Amino acid sequence: MAILVTGGAGYIGSHTVLYLNGLGEEVIVLDSLKKGHREAVRNAAFYQGELKDGDLLNEIFTTHQIDAVIHFAADSLVGESVEQPLQYYENNVIGTYHLVKKMVEHQVKKIVFSSTAAVYGNPVNVPIKEEDPTVPTNPYGETKLAIEKMLKWADDAYGLKSVCLRYFNAAGADLEGRIGEDHTPESHLIPIILQIALGQREQVSIFGNDYPTPDGSCVRDYIHVMDLADAHYLALKRLRAKEESSTYNLGNGTGYSVKEVIKACLKVTGENIKAVSAPRRAGDPAILVASSEKAKKELGWIPQYHELEQIVAHAWKWHQNNPSGYNAETIIKNI
Ligand code: UFG
Repeated sequence: MAILVTGGAGYIGSHTVLYLNGLGEEVIVLDSLKKGHREAVRNAAFYQGELKDGDLLNEIFTTHQIDAVIHFAADSLVGESVEQPLQYYENNVIGTYHLVKKMVEHQVKKIVFSSTAAVYGNPVNVPIKEEDPTVPTNPYGETKLAIEKMLKWADDAYGLKSVCLRYFNAAGADLEGRIGEDHTPESHLIPIILQIALGQREQVSIFGNDYPTPDGSCVRDYIHVMDLADAHYLALKRLRAKEESSTYNLGNGTGYSVKEVIKACLKVTGENIKAVSAPRRAGDPAILVASSEKAKKELGWIPQYHELEQIVAHAWKWHQNNPSGYNAETIIKNI
């Protein structure tokens, strides 16, 4: 049976596709390529299109023997979601509605959903557990939470089984440097800092220095993208074996402040990183650190790359070898 991966040309999606390929799974990718990169997808049937394209979904579900969907396709920037909330409702909630409707029509009853730590908002407890309150501080988290709820009701009504994976901050890259992180424009902390190390950017703004954290900057739990890829496979394995819906946090359980991340990047790259204080970014909670005990216990998930410096080192390898991201490769291919 094949797995449909929506958003499989994006950052976490493409690493998951690569990982599934390595395990011998047949993978079909659907991606609009609005943000994803065609070059990031290897060894998978590829369809370019939108979730709302019912004819395309009919074609995919009738051409391939798909037993499960891993659903990444979404807008995923906290700051942007505060400025463009309707775009987030349209692309995330309505997009998923179209996908789920077609899954139900075609009797595809398993979905692994790319959710987020942003569903928690400002946590009541740290580390955060799955049963803790979900009160998002931004539309991005709100739309992901709405989808989690949609999936719960779809299970009750249609027997659609889901695993919702609430990731904390994905970082790093494929260990062999084949694929990596490339957003345009870049808004994520680690790639921004690495662009400074490459001489492509002058400085990084530290958004907020008065948060209730040890050094005043925001604290996040950085998790290696290949550890996330492994968790998707384990979630799928569990769905295939147990046919039971569930939700898991995925993080390392250690928080690093923005200032600590800058220090780690300085150590890995050996380059000076200029940082300046800037106002808080709208929608940012002060601290997000996961308890992933449930995923470890129920999925047998064992993250391999705990150290922030190791995660940064893998990202740095990709950035050094691909200073223009996927663009350079595209240009070479077109010559
Ligand atoms: N930050 C800066 N300066 C920058 C960029 C980021 O100080 O130039 C700070 C942010 O304010 C935040 C931290 O660095 O405190 C990490 O920011 P990112 O933009 O790298 O990541 P986010 O925490 O905003 O969001 C990421 C994913 C979301 C996911 C979330 C879960 O993009 O999809 O992690 O924690 F929901």
